[in-house]
Amino acid sequence: MKGKKPENAKTDDLHMNTEDSSGEVMSNNQGLRVNDDQNSLTAGDRGPTLLEDFHFREKMTHFDHERIPERVVHARGEAAHGFFESYGDFSSITKAGFLGEKGKKTPVFTRFSTVAGFKGSSDLARDVRGFAVKFYTEEGNYDLVGNNMPVFFIQDAMKFPDLIHAVKPEQDNEIPQAASAHDTFWDFISLIPESMHMIMWVMSDRALPRSLSMMEGFGVHTYRFINKEGKSVFVKFHWKPKLGTHSVIWEEAQKISGQDPDFHRRDLWESIENGNFPEWELGVQLVEEKDEHKFDFDLLDPTKLIPEELVPVKILGKMVLNRNPDNFFAETEQVAFHPGHVVPGIDFTNDPLLQGRLFSYTDTQLTRLGGPNFAEIPINRPITPVHNNQRGGSMRQTINKGKGGYNPNKASGGCPFQASMADGGYVSHHEKIEGHKIRNRSKSFMDHFSQATLFYNSQTKVEQKHIIQALQFELGKVKSEAIRNRMVGMLTYVDQTLAEEVAKGLGIREIQKPEAPLNHSYPADSDPSDYQPTES
Ligand code: HEM
Repeated sequence: MKGKKPENAKTDDLHMNTEDSSGEVMSNNQGLRVNDDQNSLTAGDRGPTLLEDFHFREKMTHFDHERIPERVVHARGEAAHGFFESYGDFSSITKAGFLGEKGKKTPVFTRFSTVAGFKGSSDLARDVRGFAVKFYTEEGNYDLVGNNMPVFFIQDAMKFPDLIHAVKPEQDNEIPQAASAHDTFWDFISLIPESMHMIMWVMSDRALPRSLSMMEGFGVHTYRFINKEGKSVFVKFHWKPKLGTHSVIWEEAQKISGQDPDFHRRDLWESIENGNFPEWELGVQLVEEKDEHKFDFDLLDPTKLIPEELVPVKILGKMVLNRNPDNFFAETEQVAFHPGHVVPGIDFTNDPLLQGRLFSYTDTQLTRLGGPNFAEIPINRPITPVHNNQRGGSMRQTINKGKGGYNPNKASGGCPFQASMADGGYVSHHEKIEGHKIRNRSKSFMDHFSQATLFYNSQTKVEQKHIIQALQFELGKVKSEAIRNRMVGMLTYVDQTLAEEVAKGLGIREIQKPEAPLNHSYPADSDPSDYQPTES
């Protein structure tokens, strides 16, 4: 690894692509010096511009193609460089090298985002915040792609496009730009009882962080740690801000959004410029495999958290963000996170939301970043060498030598590198799987309300009032009476008083409590708890 300090390894790596043109003579992309960058080449001093003007053509063509598609979700974001420092040797629980030694430092690049808004939307919209960390480890890139809330709206990735179509602006008029206060969102939510726990978080003060450095982060899904002996333990990831968790209230958020839509972005940038480096501690909740079924919820269900009273968070290390990017587009915009970027010692579970995410990220980045070579973009390339037989594709940078590019290969000296477990090759956890090929969700995923109630009850009276007011505000914007009624009816399953208070604000006199809040993943006349797969 290059560089004097391990935590600077990525910054050193980026240096070969950074460019400081101050004091230099202007040249075009072919290295030709330019004598006039302000006047087109014309026929006479009042005549037409000549097609021959290659400097004009190059400058304009590049400009014409400056934009790439914004992220389909999490378009609005900001990022910073820093490092992660391990507090100890945790090799007894994971063989991940970056956690294997006290004081070991690993470079990171961390991007925060809102989910629903466009690239230019306000930072203080009521929304979930993305919290994505790329660890440039000596074993390859590890991405912990999390959010600032510990649960999610849906249990199955199949529903994600529907969720996002519902939360994004309505498709006929592209209104509203960056808020959940509209009919399509609440129509969808009121038909998806599994979203109720997340809705409590999104309507709470957690959706309005005071600063990015004052919000928690969560991996959400249950992952696995694997130690050197191949022993697996379930793990939930947590980021705990050193400054504590703080929010603004809705009235403040609205004013700030009007006066300074870059509020969080500016705060992050200025804190780092001023040397007030934001810090978070990384913690984990660990559950032994033998205890997988001891909870009254399913560990694979991403709409549930493990209460910290049941499994306390063990702190493993800290992250410090201490350097702003040099170039927003090159770094923050082009960075490509993926929950599937793991290192030995970290593995997946069968959480159906996580499993779908493992497909989605590379797929979207193929479009967003223009083809299959985006891992070569400086911010994305690992600090470890890359050797494989991938060749060609749009914008290929690497110049692979030799005649090869395939494996097995015995010609011309053979394939110059091997896939090897002995050399630290990644081995997937040998989980035993058996089952029917069915589209069904286990009954253990069916309790949609207990943790929503638990969260609501965990809030102080003032915080509960904020949730009520948020629901009144958001649902107050919904034009359809049927949707408002259905949503308030659903809230009775979380808390009767909550539903009544929201109803009061909406002028609903009589709450229509649904007999059983149907999970619309199932046909209307079926009871999901009775579902039995057909034996083959
Ligand atoms: C970004 C898909 C659930 C956290 C994205 C992107 C896609 C996506 C397509 C844009 C990526 C890009 O353009 O680079 C999905 C799907 C999900 C899902 C299909 C469920 C099936 C989640 C969950 C979390 C999460 C549960 C949190 C644990 C993020 C973050 C980003 C992101 C933080 C922004 C990464 C960045 O800063 O570039 N997601 N997502 N997503 N997702 Fe998800």
